[in-house]
Amino acid sequence: MGIHSGNAEWNGKDYMGYITLARAARVMSAAYGGQILVSNDAYEFCKDNCENVRVKNISFRDLGERRLKDVIEPIRLYQVLSKDLREDFPPLDTLDARPNNLPLQLTSFIGREKEMKQVKEALKLNRLVTLASAGGSGKTRLALQTAAEVIDDYEYGVWFVDLAALNDPALLTATIIVALGIKEQSKKTTEETLIDFLKEKEILILLDNCEQLVHACADLTERLLSSCSKLKIIATSREALNCKGEKTYRIPPLTMPDPNSNYTPEQLAQYESVRLFIERALMVNPEFRVNNENSHALAEICSRLDGIPLAIELAAARTNAYR
Ligand SMILES: Nc1ncnc2c1ncn2[C@@H]1O[C@H](COP(=O)(O)OP(=O)(O)OP(=O)(O)O)[C@@H](O)[C@H]1O
Ligand SMILES: [Mg+2]
Repeated sequence: MGIHSGNAEWNGKDYMGYITLARAARVMSAAYGGQILVSNDAYEFCKDNCENVRVKNISFRDLGERRLKDVIEPIRLYQVLSKDLREDFPPLDTLDARPNNLPLQLTSFIGREKEMKQVKEALKLNRLVTLASAGGSGKTRLALQTAAEVIDDYEYGVWFVDLAALNDPALLTATIIVALGIKEQSKKTTEETLIDFLKEKEILILLDNCEQLVHACADLTERLLSSCSKLKIIATSREALNCKGEKTYRIPPLTMPDPNSNYTPEQLAQYESVRLFIERALMVNPEFRVNNENSHALAEICSRLDGIPLAIELAAARTNAYR
């Protein structure tokens, strides 16, 4: 069981708290059957205030700061202790239970349940899955989130290799070696060192932003996959690598409302593009609310921007300008 508390907006009919709910679900999924985990926010709220905590003699074990499988900032977790509850459990099912260098994200991840399921399926059947679509369409974010969720399938974890700033194909292998923290061996080429390391390991590598080095990435990926039988790769690229064994996945736009329909604010918030807009607008303007006056404009903005995450984030940041 996972308990978390956070903001939920009252929209006149229902509470909307997508981010809070998503975090609560992650806290829950870190727990084992029979274990009750409480996030720091919920702990602070209930440790002194709740009647039951006093009456039933409940206490909390501090489990430390943990990275949940949502790639956003770590969260302190507590386990509920009480005389009727089991006390000892295996290690928590969190991101830090496996080796990885997944970068922390500063903003929340929205939606994409269907796409993540499809990418995971693709990864089960193929050893190279390329997320290929236009700039700003959410390739990196989707790849990171999916990698975090499948980390338990890889004994040697998940490794993120940022190629965005790399223009020289000769440095590709060395960049991967550095990201994986492998030491160079003097008598071997960089590629031999890399292959030696990866050879028998169950490991997932995320090659991010391959578009500038498509051919080099295609060649190296082919060689790595043929020498290392348990290696899998997710690549993100504006164009496919076009190499053997590649499964290309094109990311669709975020779901969008129809600008010609009338929606209530809560109907609108079911669309991913609208949720992303609201989340990012709240970052610059905490008073931002969807209401009957702005809902039509919001539907129109999201659909005119074709549900492209980057464009929606940029538009949402400007809500501040009209305060
Ligand atoms: N599902 C999502 N939830 C929240 N934010 C998202 C989501 N998808 C994308 N974003 C945000 O939108 C922006 C663009 O996404 P991202 O960087 O993943 O796109 P990209 O396709 O990798 O772009 P590029 O081709 O430039 O590498 C980022 O700020 C990212 O955090
Ligand atoms: Mg990217």
